[in-house]
This record gives sequence, structure tokens and C-alpha cells, in this order.
Amino acid sequence: MQYKEMFNIENMNFADKIYIFDTTLRDGEQTPGVALTVDEKIQIAQKLNNLGVDKIEVGFPASSNGEIESARKINDLDLQSTLVGLARSLKNDIDAVLDSDLGYIHTFIGTSPLHRDFKLKKSKEEIIDSAVSAVEYAKDHGLTVEFSAEDATRTERDFLLEIFSQVSDAKADFLDVPDTVGVLTPLESRELITDLKNKLKTPISVHFHNDFGLATANSLAAIECGADQAHVTVNGLGERTGNCSLEELVMTLKVAYGIDLGLDTTRLYSLSNLVGRLTGVKMPVNKPIVGDNAFAHESGIHVHGILNNSSTYEPMSPEMVGHSRRIVLGKHTGANSLKSKLKEYHIDLNDDQFDSVFSQIKSLGDSGKCVTDDDLVSIAITELASARETPIIIKGMSISMGANVSPTATVKLEIDGVEKETAQTGVGPVDAALSAVRELIQEDIDMELEEYNLEAITGGTDALAEVFVVSSDSHGNKSTGRSTNQDIVMASILAVLDSINKLLLIQRTQ
Ligand code: KIV
Ligand code: ZN
Repeated sequence: MQYKEMFNIENMNFADKIYIFDTTLRDGEQTPGVALTVDEKIQIAQKLNNLGVDKIEVGFPASSNGEIESARKINDLDLQSTLVGLARSLKNDIDAVLDSDLGYIHTFIGTSPLHRDFKLKKSKEEIIDSAVSAVEYAKDHGLTVEFSAEDATRTERDFLLEIFSQVSDAKADFLDVPDTVGVLTPLESRELITDLKNKLKTPISVHFHNDFGLATANSLAAIECGADQAHVTVNGLGERTGNCSLEELVMTLKVAYGIDLGLDTTRLYSLSNLVGRLTGVKMPVNKPIVGDNAFAHESGIHVHGILNNSSTYEPMSPEMVGHSRRIVLGKHTGANSLKSKLKEYHIDLNDDQFDSVFSQIKSLGDSGKCVTDDDLVSIAITELASARETPIIIKGMSISMGANVSPTATVKLEIDGVEKETAQTGVGPVDAALSAVRELIQEDIDMELEEYNLEAITGGTDALAEVFVVSSDSHGNKSTGRSTNQDIVMASILAVLDSINKLLLIQRTQ
């Protein structure tokens, strides 16, 4: 559905082909604390290729032998995406790119007064000489050449135009405009790219950093004015606060601008997860497109809308990016959300039970708690359990202990009306009693005790033990159990039986 008919924007001048140049493996790897192995770089390159990005900057070959090795190995994969190696405008760096067997070089030199005076200590003429010599040398060796004027956005405009036109004359194939410290604004981006496009024939690329959170907006503004290419990284990784995020740029172009770059966007979420896992940089829950909350809904009003038509509160479907929708329960939950959640877990409640579960979820939310799906199932099943026969009831238990012998527990249970009894030994009395319970119930349920916590013991020899457990069954259901008793063994058995009874009730409602 075209939902933005009401806007009438002029002065958009898109390039016929917009290239996506991914630099996750180079600028992304410069994220503080991130270092990728050769194998990890290969995994990411394969996924970027399957997504369909045009170019992958695989690394900075002059910086280490490992970079040359990974560039070569990625090259051996014969991917569709063009592979790029970074080089300063220096012969040795260019040779390292040649050594890596790459056919495309991204060569750069600082052009701003700050870089000229404090880093390179070179005059404008010397900078132009180095840039032109680098481009010529790379072209002479058969490379496709992209030239970056590092810190372009803080470079005098006439000097930027001068160096760009000289490297163009030396046959550079792309001119890249780095906003190295992310100081550009969207309007400035439009003005700069419009000016460069008017005065230069060579395709223009942008490489925008995110220091003020504007990298994606600035890149889009540049694309609106004819930029032919944008440098991006998965999850917006990169130096300091990172680069323009691949998923944000591609999805904004696709959904908000209606420009489909032909990428398989259903792969974005899994690519983001892979990069998050391999780099150790986890995305905040509210990260656009790929964050946990990108398609999560809690408020009753929103969930009601979503259940009728997901476009009411989602600008795109989660399927478009390989993500999934999540209905979250909490203080803002409405009856419709709760109904759809209960349906998801095949739990049928009558009106009174529903009202009781609804109010318990609300009061948990009001007390500041986040209500997980496990909590909901547990609350709903407890509600059901109070209305039904409890499947397993304890009928008796005794422990015998002695010097130099393992404790033995004898347990008698009534399971669906049938009494059963057994004795088991264990390393301690609780262990023995739980082994006996396990043996007695094994024909009725295949359960695992996932957590056992002796939560609170009040003071004194007649203290109360509170036991909390989490159990699961072979269908993936989970339930909690809780019991308080003066006897630790009895508290443990009752807590375990509490959780097993809930699991049995879940199974019987499924
Ligand atoms: O941000 C930057 O200026 C860079 C250059 C190497 C292009 O990453
Ligand atoms: Zn950069």
C-alpha cells in the first residue's frame, strides 16, 4: 500500500544505479574491541554476498599478514560481490592490495587542514601529488580505483574539488566523500553532494560516520541528490560510534523511498545476528530493523491494531527482514494481546479464569516486573489447576539416614487416583527424595529439573525452607514450582510436584 501519497517532495535526483559498498570487515572491524579471525571474516563475507551487496571491503592488507590471508581466502570463494582492499595513498599499501589478489582498491589520504597540518605535515600540492601518484600506480597495475579524501567534510571546498578533479583525470573510478568524524548534517550533505555532482563526472560515493547519530540520514540525503554509492556496515559498526547502518539504509530506501536495490532483505536479521555474535557487539533492543523490539508490541491499543492489520503499527513486516513479531505482556497489555498469547500456547480459559490472569499480569506489570511468556503460562496453568483435579498428590514420605550409608527416601504418590510407592538412595536426603519422585512419575511425564533454588530460610531450628524450581518437558514446555515447609525435603518434593502438575496440565490442554 502506498501510504505516503500526501507528500510532494521535489529536488530528488536519484542515480540510476545506487551501489552498496559494505565495509563491515574493514571500518566495522575498527570498532573498538573488535577483531575478527580469517574464518569469521569468511562467514560474514559469504552472508554479505548472499544478501547481494555490490562491494565488500575485506580489509586493510598493509596492516597485517592476517589481512592479506583473509583477503586471499575470501577471494578464493569466487563471490558475486566485488572485493575491495583499503590502502593509504602509498606504494607499499597498494602493493599489499595487489599481493592480496584483489581487483579493486580503496585508496585514501587526509585532505582537511587538520589532517594536512597535524597528521601528514604536507602541503596541499604534496597531498595532491601523493593522491594522483597512488591512483596512477594502482590503475597501471590494472586495479579499479576508488579514491577517498579523508575528512572531506572538513576540507576547503575548492581544495576538495581540486583533488577530486585531479584524481578523476588520473582515471579514478569512484570518488568517495568521507565524513570522517560524523559532523555533517542532512542539509549540508545535500548541498555538498549536489555541488560535487554538478562539477564532477566521476561517480560519487559517501562514507558517513555516526558521531551525532546522523550517518543514515546524511547518506540518504546524499542519495537524494544523486550519490552513486553509500558505504555501510552491518549493525552500523565502525570507528567510535560507527558508520551508516546497512540495514537502516537499505530498508529506508526500500520502504520509505520505494527504491528496491535488489538485495535479499530477508537475510538482514540473521546477518545482523551473526555479526553481533562474532564481534561481541550486541545490538540495543531498540536498534531499528534488527533490534529485539523492532517488531515487539506491548500496549493494548497497538496490539489490537496489529492483530487486525499489522500495518497499523508497523512500517514494514518483520518477514521482510527475516525478523519476527513479538507480543509482549506487561502493564500496558490489553485483553486482545492476552487472548492471542493464550491461543499461541493453546491455553483455554473461561471468563473468570481469564479475568483473574489478566489482573495478575497487570499487577505484575504495575509492580515494575517484565512478564515473560513463561510467567504467563505459569499463571494461566495455576489458574487452570485450581479448577481441575491435581494429577499428582503426595501421600507419604520418610527418610532413613545412618552412619556410613547413603540416605534412603521412601515416597508414596497418588497419580491420577492410583497410589504408587518406591524407595531410592541419593547423595543427600533431598537428592534421594527427588530420585524417588522421578522414578514414580517416569511413565507419566518426561521431565527435566532445570533449576533448583533453596530460596529463603527464616532463622531458628524450626525455620521455614522455601524452594523454587523450574522444570521442563520433552515438548519444550516449562513451568515453575514453589513450596514452603519446615522440612527441606518436603519443601523440595512439593515444589517439584507443583511444577510437574503444571506441566501435566499444560500437556493435557495442548
Ligand atoms: O572514515 C574515514 O575517513 C575512513 C577512510 C579510510 C575512508 O574510513
Ligand atoms: Zn570510516
